[in-house]
Parts: sequence; C-alpha cells; structure tokens
Amino acid sequence: MIAQTPLEKIHIVVIGAGLIGPRHAEHVHSNEQTELFGIIDPMPERKAVAEKLGTEHFTSITSMIQYADDNKIPYPDGAIVCTPNHTHVRIAAELASHGIHLLVEKPLSSQVEESQALKVYCEQHNIKLLVGHHRRFNPFIVETKKQLPKVGTPIAIQGTWALKKPSNYFEASPWRTDSKTGGGVLLINLVHDIDLLQYLFGPIVKVYAELLTKQRLEYPNVDEGACLTLKFENGITGTFICSDNVISPFNFESGTGENPIIPFHHDLEGFYRVFGSNGTLSIPDFSLYHQPEIKGWNTRVTKESLIDNRKDKLYSQLPFDLQLNHFIDVIRDKSDPFCTAEEGMSALLCIDAVIKSIETDMPQYVSNIKDVKPNFEALGLKK
Ligand SMILES: NC(=O)c1ccc[n+]([C@@H]2O[C@H](COP(=O)([O-])OP(=O)(O)OC[C@H]3O[C@@H](n4cnc5c(N)ncnc54)[C@H](O)[C@@H]3O)[C@@H](O)[C@H]2O)c1
Repeated sequence: MIAQTPLEKIHIVVIGAGLIGPRHAEHVHSNEQTELFGIIDPMPERKAVAEKLGTEHFTSITSMIQYADDNKIPYPDGAIVCTPNHTHVRIAAELASHGIHLLVEKPLSSQVEESQALKVYCEQHNIKLLVGHHRRFNPFIVETKKQLPKVGTPIAIQGTWALKKPSNYFEASPWRTDSKTGGGVLLINLVHDIDLLQYLFGPIVKVYAELLTKQRLEYPNVDEGACLTLKFENGITGTFICSDNVISPFNFESGTGENPIIPFHHDLEGFYRVFGSNGTLSIPDFSLYHQPEIKGWNTRVTKESLIDNRKDKLYSQLPFDLQLNHFIDVIRDKSDPFCTAEEGMSALLCIDAVIKSIETDMPQYVSNIKDVKPNFEALGLKK
C-alpha cells in the first residue's frame, strides 16, 4: 500500500475581530487542515483575541506582509474578511493583490458596483472568491432542500426574520447605525434570507417594500426593517417581514440555534412557510400540512412531522466549519465556490431594489448583474 503524504496545512488570516471574526478564527484554529496565520484588526484591544488563540496580532495588512517578509515566510493562502460591510471590497482587493484567496463575509459589499470590480479583479489575478452566506451549509437548509419536493409545485412563500437587537449592539460598532456604512437590517440581516430564498427558489425578479415604523429615533440614518412582497423568475410569489426592533422569536437564529448568543427555541414553528400544490411545509419544524387522500376544503388537513428529534439532529454550529472546509477545497482547487461573487451580488441587487422601492413607493424590478458597471476606483489599488 502506498503511504499517503499528508496535505500541507492551509494558512489563513482573519481580518476584523469584532463580533464574528473571533468565531471564524476559532474554527480556523481548531480545524486540522488549517493554521491560523494571525488576526488583523487596527484596535489594540483586539490583541487579546489573538493571544487567546496563540497567534499573531497585526494592526494592518501592510504590517502582516512586512512580518512575513521579515521572517521569510510565505503569505497566508487565504483570508476571511470580517470587517464592517463598507470596508470589505477595499480590504479584499488589497489581500488579493498579494495573491491571497478570499472568503468575504456577507454582504459581499455595501455597493454592488464595488463587488463587480472585485469579481473582475479576482478573475484577472486567479484569486478565488467565496462569499460567506454560510447558512447555505446549515443542516436546516440542507434538510429544507431535501424536503421541498413534498409540497409539489411551490406556489407561494411566507417568511419572517424578526427580533430585537439590544442597544449595545449599536453602541459597540457605530458603522451599524448608518446605511452609508452598510448598517441596517436590510443589508445586515435581510440579505441572508434573500440569499437563502434565491438558493431555494431561484432568482427574485421583482420586489415591493414598505419601511417599518422607526423606534430608535437616535439613529435616524438606518432602517429597522421592512415588509416585502417578492416575485421569483419561476412565478413563485412571497411575502417577507424583517425587523431588528420587535420582540419575536420568528427568525433563523432562534429557530435553528445557530448563533450561540441567541437562545434556541426548540419548538419554534414557521419562520418560513412554503405553500405548494400538494401541501405546505413549515420550517424549522419540518411539519408538512397535507391531505394524503381526499383533497379539498371539506377534508381536514393532516400535520405530518417529517423529522424526529429536531434538536438532536439539527442543532449545531457546524455551518461555519463546513464553510471553512469548503473554502479549503476551493483554495486547493478541489471545488468551485458554493456561493459565488455573482450570487453575492444577486442578493445585493435584490436589496438595492428593496431600497429603491421604499424610496419611490413603487414596485421595482431587480437589475441584471450584466448591467452593473464595475467601480475599479473602489478597490483602492494603484494602477
Ligand atoms: N455570517 C454571519 O452570520 C455574520 C454575523 C455577524 C456579522 N457578519 C458580517 O461580518 C462583518 C463584521 O461584522 P461584525 O458584527 O463582526 O462587526 P464588528 O463591528 O463587531 O467588528 C468589525 C471589526 O473589524 C475591525 N476593522 C475595521 N476596519 C478594519 C480594517 N481596515 N482592517 C482590519 N479590521 C478592521 C474593527 O476594529 C472591528 O473589530 C460584517 O460584514 C457583517 O455583516 C456576518
């Protein structure tokens, strides 16, 4: 038998060590295939995050590059960009200019023209670009994909992402209080659900949106949510409510237990509902409401549980690990990105249409990616 040579570890640097960066860094630290190269964050207090994981802290990409040059070690193979939304593209482009492959947190950027420029730049320089819509890896979504055919032809969907963010969430990171810096529930949270809905049901082509009443008057420049109607290319229609300022467990995190800081509601029903020709599927409970024999309003609709022990089977923080393993495969050329730059931009174009609809009080068609002109200036690179 030929002994297999173990593959060399993939070296990964994490940029931004606020709320989500340390979580990514811990996964990189504990994954057998990866080595945490270091953490980049200009805030001196973020050094503690690096120290906890026994890795280097750098205050800029330049200082990390300098460190590698001084120590005659290769640059990291990949980077996970976990900085404020409006900084993603510039940071990602600088890393790409050093040959470093990219996993960029969602949303890919706060402006789709910047994303287009990053995509083109990465293609020209053979840099792999994966967008961090990690929920596609969540077992609840994997299960949803599997169970969807049971509704027959999907006709309509109903969805909710609603909870209350505490005031310290905004105080800790002022970029979250202004939509110009990528703040707001539309760009931070709705973009997750838009990506999932497009992943499950195909492209959204038209939206209409009404803004929800503001309650945080101290932050006038950021939205708190919206009520939407959606039309998909294949004819499916839907409604969606998103809010980060109401008391509600009807959101992905509460229903899946994915986020350790948001309590898991084991028995939550229906943050998404899919209405089909043969039945209605409720997620995350995986109840199928159907009429196995005589169909029609004279017959009781049966509720069938499609999975047992939801908590044991599906509650897990696996998605970030799965996403990391996938990123490793992408870097090793064993796989194409599961969430591409085009898909990241497609979600952004939907959010743009939502914002335009709010501004004009009219329904809006979602623009075509092909019509988005790249803004190369936004990359901040020398010509
Ligand atoms: N996938 C998810 O579920 C998920 C969850 C939370 C956040 N996010 C995304 O992750 C990103 C970060 O969000 P967050 O909530 O962790 O933000 P945060 O404000 O908590 O942390 C951002 C960190 O980036 C650092 N930073 C700012 N500019 C930098 C620069 N030029 N170089 C290096 N570091 C810099 C800040 O000092 C801060 O420590 C956002 O894009 C957000 O949308 C994704």
